[in-house]
Amino acid sequence: MANMIVVGTQWGDEGKGKIVDLLTDKADLIIRFQGGNNAGHTLVIGDEKLILHLIPSGILHRNKLCIIASGVVIDPEVLLTEIDELVAKGHIVTPETVAISDRAHVIMPYHKIIDHARDTERIGTTGRGIGPAYEDKARRTGIRIIDLINAALLQKKLDEVFEEKKHYITKVLKVKAPEKATILEKYARLGMRLRPFVTDTSILIDNAVKSGKSLLFEGAQGGNLDMDYGTYPFVTSSNTVAAQACVGSGIGPTNIDRVLGICKAYTTRVGGGPFPTELADDLGERLRAFGGEYGATTGRPRRCGWLDLVALRHTIRLSSISHLAITKLDVLSGLESIRVATAYKSGNIIMESMPADLELFPDLEILYDEHPGWEENLASIKRYEDLPQNCKAYISYIEAKLGVKAAIISVGSKRDQTIVLEELL
Ligand code: IMP
Repeated sequence: MANMIVVGTQWGDEGKGKIVDLLTDKADLIIRFQGGNNAGHTLVIGDEKLILHLIPSGILHRNKLCIIASGVVIDPEVLLTEIDELVAKGHIVTPETVAISDRAHVIMPYHKIIDHARDTERIGTTGRGIGPAYEDKARRTGIRIIDLINAALLQKKLDEVFEEKKHYITKVLKVKAPEKATILEKYARLGMRLRPFVTDTSILIDNAVKSGKSLLFEGAQGGNLDMDYGTYPFVTSSNTVAAQACVGSGIGPTNIDRVLGICKAYTTRVGGGPFPTELADDLGERLRAFGGEYGATTGRPRRCGWLDLVALRHTIRLSSISHLAITKLDVLSGLESIRVATAYKSGNIIMESMPADLELFPDLEILYDEHPGWEENLASIKRYEDLPQNCKAYISYIEAKLGVKAAIISVGSKRDQTIVLEELL
């Protein structure tokens, strides 16, 4: 029995969904603690492909409690659609299997309009209203789930903020604002449907800890998209480092036993912002094609590039990552050689850690190590010993350079395409 946080170590899309799904077998509670439906976790089970945006993937397993905790921003319409789709596929979605924090903030229609009208070009956001919802949370003008499930409270909260939102949308952004009455009617209805699932989830978590249950905290996005430590302003609007698992779910740090960092064998990024090892050439195109690197939420093509140890060291330090899961190694098969960035160089200065100053990035020289590749298809390999020699050498090199052992190796999108080197739960 252990309590573990799973976080992405790069810029998101590291394959967290599959690894969390795998680990869920041994966990009792699976908890989402930040972000919202900007995340999309792709799961391939048998012939079925499922993309979950809000509900933890534990929902596909029996006798698990999936929690959407207070640090998440929730689009009620998306959540209910997800619930309906899961039910239609025969999964059990009841208050015994899903709990929603009464303190989580709600993504309102005006948040989505503002995100679309304002930000998609600049930062390349997912346009799901995530940033504007977190803005309202910080401004103390947010609407929480506890408000949503009480029509009178919802009306009061909406009355307080609506005129200002309408003014901003129509006069500053110059787009059409939604009608208040329509929002009220629709969101009160959505609130009623969500009501049975709503509770103080921190109490459920505390009770589970006290009774020796095993907790799995499922991070979204990746460490380099963290609002404080990522490539600001090209970041998401929540904290994605491991410490947020505690804040966003209402649990103290002494209850955490380990932190698993998910690390893709190369790097991808969606949206704008610095990407030092980006391959804007045929090789990048090849990684995108072989790795299926298209956003699970927006379908946007992901930018692809080599593994970046500078970016990885940064998030490993910030999240106290104790173990790694290296994913998508199979995508590198067939490459003659594989490069890994070890440091950045700016003028005469060699940098082994991520600079805060984004102005430096366009002129950085990237220092690489080169590794011999391997030809073999890894998709059906079940044991570490059977991996090609050069592939094992690549894994050992990453472990040595980062000072963290790989506990899991993933060689394909299916559950059984996984080599477990150390049991973590
Ligand atoms: P937002 O989270 O929609 O505000 O988008 C901010 C930035 O984070 C954009 O560059 C997005 O592409 C990126 N982003 C948000 N969620 C994800 C994710 O789940 N995977 C990868 N990138 C993401």
